[in-house]
Amino acid sequence: MEFSIKAGTPEKLRSGCIALGVIDAKGLTPAAAAIDKASNGYLTEILRRGDLEPKAGSTLMLHNVPGTACERILLVSLGKQAEFSDKNFRSTVGAAAKAFATCGSKDATLCLLDQAVPGRDARWRGRQAAMLLADSAYRYETTKAKKDDAPRRGPSKITLLLADQADVAGVQAGAVQGKAIAGGMALAKELGNLPANICTPTYLAQQAKALGKAHKLKVDVLERAQMEKLGMGSLLSVAAGSAQPPKFIVMKYDGAPKKGARPVVLVGKGITFDTGGISIKPAAEMDEMKYDMCGAASVFGTLKAVATLGLPLNVIGLVPTTENMPGGRATKPGDIVTSMSGQTIEILNTDAEGRLILCDALTYAERFEPDCVIDIATLTGACIIALGAIPSGLLANDDELAAELLARGQESGDRAWQLPLWDDYQEMLKSNFADIPNIGSKGAGTITAACFLARFTAKYKWAHLDIAGTAWKSGGDKGATGRPVPLLAQFLLGRAKAA
Ligand code: BES
Ligand code: MN
Ligand code: ZN
Repeated sequence: MEFSIKAGTPEKLRSGCIALGVIDAKGLTPAAAAIDKASNGYLTEILRRGDLEPKAGSTLMLHNVPGTACERILLVSLGKQAEFSDKNFRSTVGAAAKAFATCGSKDATLCLLDQAVPGRDARWRGRQAAMLLADSAYRYETTKAKKDDAPRRGPSKITLLLADQADVAGVQAGAVQGKAIAGGMALAKELGNLPANICTPTYLAQQAKALGKAHKLKVDVLERAQMEKLGMGSLLSVAAGSAQPPKFIVMKYDGAPKKGARPVVLVGKGITFDTGGISIKPAAEMDEMKYDMCGAASVFGTLKAVATLGLPLNVIGLVPTTENMPGGRATKPGDIVTSMSGQTIEILNTDAEGRLILCDALTYAERFEPDCVIDIATLTGACIIALGAIPSGLLANDDELAAELLARGQESGDRAWQLPLWDDYQEMLKSNFADIPNIGSKGAGTITAACFLARFTAKYKWAHLDIAGTAWKSGGDKGATGRPVPLLAQFLLGRAKAA
């Protein structure tokens, strides 16, 4: 999707579809007023009849509006001026994106960026708009034979038309970022949506190499033998039941101008299918466990966005990846393994496998002397019970890092919510036979999972994002969301600005 950013009024514009804002039910934004004038009050007349709902994000498509050079006019309600907010901005642009995607036009113009959003600048508006528009163009069709059944493609060219010339540079800069973030989301969605018989650990390793080639990342893939040498007994215990070889993927983006600058390390859970292992899961919705590598997918997507933008930072992506399968060689409940850190782990439930692959990756991360480490994982069903699908769960051993991530979540619209990582919860992880069990006693499942990880992260600042509720949607709209690529990308944009 190509964006062009201009200032002016839309009445003489030739465009397949122009989206215009209406505020406080009947108030015309300057762009809408210009079209209204050119059409002799056509819009005012329609609004007077009350055809457009006043709620932010409601739309009304008009065809053949007199006095204009465009095929369609999309009226979009901005809601109440006094209540205009991040959320209303996003729902209005999102509604326009949805209408654009199905209207059949090859090009479109968006005149919805002029209404000031409290606390946000032009760059934010450009970034959010480009991200929402480009993201709405994603379609999954890789494994469909009948491609022509796929929904109609939306516009490939979008003009962001602004009332104020002074906003052009900011919106332009933001749009470049938003488009790159959407590109990262598309990669994360695609990897997530691919079935587990295609998206295996080997496939992820190949994709990492391909990403490295396209974006100048250094990519190393460690094989089983190398993992054995490193002592990654915890990770390998999860892979024991699988016919697919596990991989440990290391991707390095070197963008910092200063040599040796400490990297941000992102660690993504890459379980390409989670059957639960010997502690096998029930059959209902088990297909959705193909999404258990969405943490890994978000690391791929974030690195892609960062490299596309050439951010002046060092970022390392670590992806431990394997299937979790039952079988004659599979790890059994009660088995004890030794992690790379040297700590022994009693595996009381083979379905708590995410933490078992992450802990070795978190120990491996120490060698990079990281500025901070963020792991991203579809880790616990309990997180869905606690928070649903709105925010990702956030736990951290550093309050400043947590606050930074919470703020970047707000800014990007891809929010997180912090849960406590108090020492008191560590009491719930006790084993009679090893240093630590892989599950806690009853209750607080998201927190005890993070407490387990915390035993491996004492040497650096660390945050954990539990994306079990946010990484994909179930039901009729089943599909990966691309989250938390926007949050992570915004975090790194913030770091780049500070650097
Ligand atoms: N991948 C699952 C978590 C999950 C379940 C995410 C459903 C999204 C939807 C994870 O590996 C898992 O099975 N966790 C267990 C942990 C339990 C055995 C302590 C869970 O949440 O039930
Ligand atoms: Mn599991
Ligand atoms: Zn899992």
